[in-house]
Amino acid sequence: NLKHSAPLNLKHFLKDDDLTPAQQAEVLDLAAKLKADRYAYPALAGPKSVAVIFEKPSTRTRLSFDVGIAELGGHSVVIDAQSTQLGRGETVADTARVLSRYVSAIVIRTFGDDRIAELAEHATVPVVNALTDGWHPCQLLADLQTIAEHKPLKGTSIAYLGDAAFNMGNSTVIASSLAGMHVRIGAPEGYQPAAEVLERAARINAATGGSVTVTADPVEAVAGADVVSTDAWVSMGMADSAKRFGDLRAYQLNADLLAHAAADAIVLHCLPAHRGEEITDEVIDGPHSRVFDQAENRLHAQKALLAWLLKESA
Ligand code: CP
Ligand code: NVA
Repeated sequence: NLKHSAPLNLKHFLKDDDLTPAQQAEVLDLAAKLKADRYAYPALAGPKSVAVIFEKPSTRTRLSFDVGIAELGGHSVVIDAQSTQLGRGETVADTARVLSRYVSAIVIRTFGDDRIAELAEHATVPVVNALTDGWHPCQLLADLQTIAEHKPLKGTSIAYLGDAAFNMGNSTVIASSLAGMHVRIGAPEGYQPAAEVLERAARINAATGGSVTVTADPVEAVAGADVVSTDAWVSMGMADSAKRFGDLRAYQLNADLLAHAAADAIVLHCLPAHRGEEITDEVIDGPHSRVFDQAENRLHAQKALLAWLLKESA
């Protein structure tokens, strides 16, 4: 990319609802095609070079973007922010301006959503959220792809247990609403999605027919659910683990709780799992678990997303 001004139709993916329901469906459809044939390039000029920057640790996101960009015929530059001048205080805005002169897209994992918003404001290429405190939208594309391998998304219910006030909870609420799913949050007070997130979901659901319910009762959340998902009780960058373990213990996804879900329910977890904390070995290694398909789908979903964003932003 040698253009120094942003294309008029520049698109970023900072949070789940940066895609409309139709656009989300289009990306998921392309992801399924790319899973069936990893080298079935979409009919467009794929990414050339993509910067993939980490301000927090990562295994899946780092590997799946790196491999996926290679499979699209592009080149990835995967960097820990600490090894760049960002780590010495160069501003996010200047970093965005400079990177935009080199690469066709910027993928970043960072802390506050204000940081990625600032990057997007000053970038002239698409910016993709590879996890912030607020959102993990690439993960949800993979989660929805995994669910769609078993059930139609529209009308399917997903229970999400534990910390629902951070990235995975927020993205599960919004991405599932876009897909017309019925979300049941099972989380105690203080760990439930913010009112602003629930209001956004309600606006989306008015159009998609989905819904969100919030309960502090884990059994009520899981009862009859088609999909059951959970995430770490202590996310990257969080302190105060003893309190969180105490507050969230009753929401552990174990065999007793899973017994309340639909007989053919599938279990998701974005990984890394903290076995014996939010999920037991028996459940994550059991017949309902699809967590490794889910991890694989990061690759296909992100390839589809990058191809789509670059096509739209061209
Ligand atoms: N699920 C996920 O984002 O994993 P990593 O932190 O390993 O990238
Ligand atoms: N909520 C977790 C997700 C890890 C992929 C975290 O932010 O650490």
